[in-house]
Amino acid sequence: MPSLTADLETAAGIGADPRGGVSRFAWTPELARANEWLMQRLAELGLEVELDPAGNVLGRWQAGAGKAVLLGSHLDTVPNGGRFDGALGVLAALDVVRRLKAAGVEPTRPLWVVSFNDEEGGRFQTGMLGSRAFCGDCDLEDWSGRGVPEAMAEAGFDFARLVDARRLDRVGAYLELHIEQGPVLERAGVDLGVVTAITGMLGFRARFLGEANHAGTTPMELRRDALAGAARAVLALRHEARSRDDMTANVGVITAEPGGFNVVPGAAELTIDVRSPAPKGFARLEPFVRETLERIAAEEGLGLELRETHRKEPAVLDADLQDGLEAAAHDEGASTLRLPSGAGHDATVLAHHVPAAMLFVPSRGGLSHTPEEFSTPEHCELGARALARAVRDLIS
Ligand code: HGY
Ligand code: MN
Ligand code: MN
Repeated sequence: MPSLTADLETAAGIGADPRGGVSRFAWTPELARANEWLMQRLAELGLEVELDPAGNVLGRWQAGAGKAVLLGSHLDTVPNGGRFDGALGVLAALDVVRRLKAAGVEPTRPLWVVSFNDEEGGRFQTGMLGSRAFCGDCDLEDWSGRGVPEAMAEAGFDFARLVDARRLDRVGAYLELHIEQGPVLERAGVDLGVVTAITGMLGFRARFLGEANHAGTTPMELRRDALAGAARAVLALRHEARSRDDMTANVGVITAEPGGFNVVPGAAELTIDVRSPAPKGFARLEPFVRETLERIAAEEGLGLELRETHRKEPAVLDADLQDGLEAAAHDEGASTLRLPSGAGHDATVLAHHVPAAMLFVPSRGGLSHTPEEFSTPEHCELGARALARAVRDLIS
């Protein structure tokens, strides 16, 4: 008998990374294999299956009338990521359909399952590309300059058809089960989290430009060391985030050119991920990043190129759907807690267009985006049962 736990195990083997985690990126064969496997499972349940022009997998239970209830998440991962981030939400949505069909439920409105493509933006920092295309919110100009058209073509997709993935007008609500990816639920000893809001995310790629030179003969005071400027930027971002209670900052990628141990770096590039959960705090992020990096470049005698790579405004989740998830969780015997999400999700995109809500399961040690990411089968199954109960109320 197929089960959520067994499905999670199977999915983890598709794109398994030799370093212990899972690596499945947009437009790659690993994600294509996971999508193929998911489409088979959706077809087995009698759903109408589509791989849309944005690489999203859709399974439609076309019943009743009116706008669909959409359930899902994403199957793409970060490099060497965990086996639950995204996959839990997609496979729990599959499990919900399996449970409702086994119970003989006849929906009064369509119920759709989705696996959104490129939620993580792991290759081109194009986070949530699939859900944005689904909502008709493509940034074609920006994406075309990042290598996306070439990667899509290689995978058999047509960049010009991204705009044909818009399905939003047929959706009335979106629900997503996800791991918390933080320590709150575990520390509180609570079974499930009802998410109140999702943090806003702002991303940049910064390039400091100095002068490559000899590491031994160039007097210290004459150096224009691009990596030293980048290092100052990393610490300045961390200092600001530590001094505020409504901000996080992360530099996940940094490179130095030409990359010789005995060469003063002439150029240094870094990615910047800054977040804030509320509109006021979010509005302060961009001016802070720009002013800080410009000041450091001036003080270090460096050039600076700063490009915004992604922007997701903070999202407030639907109060009625939150209440429905909470009541369903309690009916399943789960204790619950309401909390904001420090991670971004496809629900961030959907929530700006339709009522959306999320349910969290605890993450062991709060770990995520790492092979050590873990949630117990009991919590995952409990989350899926609560989701199924909430969905049943929405489609009955
Ligand atoms: O980065 C995030 O918060 C999400 O996992 N994409
Ligand atoms: Mn993630
Ligand atoms: Mn995720």
